[in-house]
Amino acid sequence: MIEEINKHIADLEKIKLKNSDELEKFRIKYISKKGIVPFLFSKLKEIPDAQKREVGLKINSIKEKVNEILSKQKKKFTKTSSDQSSDDLTKPANFIKLGSRHPISIVKNKIIDIFLKIGFDISEGPEIEDDWHNFTALNLPEHHPARDMQDTFYINKNPDWLLRTHTSSVQIRHMENNDPPIRTISPGRVYRNEDISARSHCFFHQVEGLYIDKGVSFVDLKQTLLHFTKELFGKSKIRLRPSYFPFTEPSAELDIYWGLESEADYRITKGTGWLEILGCGMVDPNVLQNCKIDTEKFSGFAFGLGIERIAMLLYQIEDIRTLYENDLRFLNQFRSSI
Ligand code: DAH
Repeated sequence: MIEEINKHIADLEKIKLKNSDELEKFRIKYISKKGIVPFLFSKLKEIPDAQKREVGLKINSIKEKVNEILSKQKKKFTKTSSDQSSDDLTKPANFIKLGSRHPISIVKNKIIDIFLKIGFDISEGPEIEDDWHNFTALNLPEHHPARDMQDTFYINKNPDWLLRTHTSSVQIRHMENNDPPIRTISPGRVYRNEDISARSHCFFHQVEGLYIDKGVSFVDLKQTLLHFTKELFGKSKIRLRPSYFPFTEPSAELDIYWGLESEADYRITKGTGWLEILGCGMVDPNVLQNCKIDTEKFSGFAFGLGIERIAMLLYQIEDIRTLYENDLRFLNQFRSSI
């Protein structure tokens, strides 16, 4: 028995394994249920007591050696096999699943792109605003009835902190910190205390536009918006309908002629062919003065639009809530280079 064990120990010293198949055969030969090591242990009871200890230790040393070889060689073979696979240039490339941009980001980026090309820059402001920037400086003093147009989430009343109801607050911050000429667009999230339904939500996104310089007139407003609608929708028939906003005078709504070619066109334009796209106007001199801009020298226009509305229009999305549910089956449909 001792001789047999010594032979195994000597064999193990010389062992050479070429690959993981041989390694597996080696494992089976030595330590599987019917392997050499369990067999030797089973023979231990036949050994006279005086030798039992010595023989037991030797069998154990075989077992340890086998385990050592197994773990060392295993590391070597796993490394080699992955190296081989990366060297194999004929193997198909790993499939990388590409994500897609959110439709709100796609539309936002398209709008930004249009205005950057005509010399506007991008400005941003805080979503938690004070009363001055969200209302008062925009010609909406306390108790002004037009504040009711925008149901507000107040954070506290004194001092006044609220979730901004529109990105017009960024106009004010920008005018306070920059001298004219100013050409800026301000994309961002806004909040309104409104019921959630297919057409409205308690938060959404807007893009604000502001242009202040010497001699800016309504003509500049109209031409800028015409350029914008051509670029974004490919539509070149627009109209400016008189409207009211406290921060602009005169104020207007921009409608585009969408057409009446399909049944859907009838539905979304309520049979008129016209669609309301945004609010705009010439910045009220009171607003400029609130921002210490000389109204003798400077004038300007502003506009504000909702991104969701436009995304819903462009992608025929019926329910605004689908934009926030993060259902990948919905989101993966949007591919864009922008
Ligand atoms: N702030 C307006 C709103 O949220 C949108 C708007 C209208 C912005 C006219 C403007 C503007 O800058 O001139 O409904």
